[in-house]
Amino acid sequence: MGLVKACDLSDLEDGEIFKAEIEGQPPLAIYLVDDEVFATSDTCTHGEASLADDGFIEDGQVVCSWHDGAFDIRSGEACRLPCMDPLRIFPIEVRDGEVFVEL
Ligand code: FES
Repeated sequence: MGLVKACDLSDLEDGEIFKAEIEGQPPLAIYLVDDEVFATSDTCTHGEASLADDGFIEDGQVVCSWHDGAFDIRSGEACRLPCMDPLRIFPIEVRDGEVFVEL
């Protein structure tokens, strides 16, 4: 699909998770951590929790508050049970204050 705009950089706050809704795609979670932007799939692989709605960032991981599982934001790897399957990750490009994801 190529590069698709996910949000504006101004939508993001450091340490917060933004839910990007792109038509025809499952939602994405966009993270701003130490001035770097990352994107993963938004739905926890353990259940149906939205990480943007019900998760938080801690030490480079996104923690799902439903059952306290966690994923590495950079790699998508599941790093705490009960999460076992990784999140999808998406390359990011920030251009002129806009955040694009490679789908
Ligand atoms: S739904 Fe996310 S840890 Fe269970």
